[in-house]
Amino acid sequence: MKILVTGGLGYIGSHTVIALQEKGHEVVIIDNLLNSSIDVLDNITKISGIKPTYENVDIREKDELAKFMDNHLDISGVIHFAAFKAVGESVAKPLDYYENNVAALVYLLREMNKLNSPKFIFSSSCTVYGQAEKLPITEDAPVQKANSPYGNTKQIDEEVIQDHIISGADIQAISLRYFNPIGAHPTALIGELPLGVPQNLVPFVTQTAAGKREKLSVFGGDYPTEDGTCIRDYIHVMDLAEVHVVALEKLLEEDYTTKFDVYNVGTGKGNSVLDVVKTFEEVNDLKLPYAIVDRRPGDVISAYADTTKVEEGLNWKAQRTMADALKDAWAWEQKQS
Ligand code: NAD
Ligand code: UD1
Repeated sequence: MKILVTGGLGYIGSHTVIALQEKGHEVVIIDNLLNSSIDVLDNITKISGIKPTYENVDIREKDELAKFMDNHLDISGVIHFAAFKAVGESVAKPLDYYENNVAALVYLLREMNKLNSPKFIFSSSCTVYGQAEKLPITEDAPVQKANSPYGNTKQIDEEVIQDHIISGADIQAISLRYFNPIGAHPTALIGELPLGVPQNLVPFVTQTAAGKREKLSVFGGDYPTEDGTCIRDYIHVMDLAEVHVVALEKLLEEDYTTKFDVYNVGTGKGNSVLDVVKTFEEVNDLKLPYAIVDRRPGDVISAYADTTKVEEGLNWKAQRTMADALKDAWAWEQKQS
């Protein structure tokens, strides 16, 4: 099957391209390189031995996108990663976020009307749940008012997709609500490339271990958790990549008729910030300088997935451990100059 991957040179997209190629799919990537590098294309090719088709298309540019789609009318499925993702930046530049994450999704769905019953996988986030009342978090936990424009774009996007389907659009879609993706490909040829000072925990940890940062600030040591630090569900990016292929293949099954569904994608295990620090130190045999500082505004205390739905509905379960991910993240960091 010919599958379009928007944002396919980015962190999760590049790993998903490999997973698609491993299952024999033909991949076409569009990416405008705003948060990635063209070198990723060569590294994908090194890993899989197959060079995916790549076009530098900005999905905000309707004409560019239309021209691209007109040349690829045989696409069977679209996995849509292209978006902005920095929570803090979204507060400073909300319109950029609504343009890239919402308006461009509208353009993409419109162009997909040219395709023959395309399947659609959307990158959503557990941020839609805010601080859920019940843990682990199931898919029927209420979506809570977003506390950033970024979070809001994910909520609006899910509504846009559903409304489009309700209107009679000939597509089927699955929205995957990711918990916290970490790690890198075990070859250390592709991984996460944070711009500037990392906002997310694991890139900050690896950069600190590499001496690029003086020490890790652990945001808050007085939360009502076992060790006082926040709990998250850290999932290896390779596991996350694979579930995209599984979800897409489910949509491609002839007797699968559901038009829209959402799945939580996590491991089901909650780990604290200090668990991450300890595991990182253990598996990589090093010491990580850190200090507990004030809480970060907007952080939820605890979020981890109930994985029952994805296990039963997609017959999928994360295979890798947090230790695997932290080893791979460190191997990747050591390759960065
Ligand atoms: P990323 O920034 O590494 O990848 C996104 C890619 O899209 C980049 O290569 C970027 O150059 C490209 N892109 C952005 N705007 C574009 C545009 N207008 N036209 C074409 N290409 C464009 O991000 P990621 O971590 O791989 O995240 C992928 C998706 O998953 C995003 O939608 C993100 O919101 C979502 N998500 C990510 C996380 C996470 O922790 N990484 C968690 C939940 C959801
Ligand atoms: C963040 C985003 C969320 C997004 C998710 C995945 C916020 C408020 N939320 O979630 O919208 O979907 O990333 O990309 O930014 N931590 C430290 N020190 C650091 C960095 C983080 O202690 O330097 C802690 C945080 O307080 C948190 C945990 O590590 O408890 C994980 O943080 P992070 O990686 O930023 O992910 P989330 O906050 O879960």
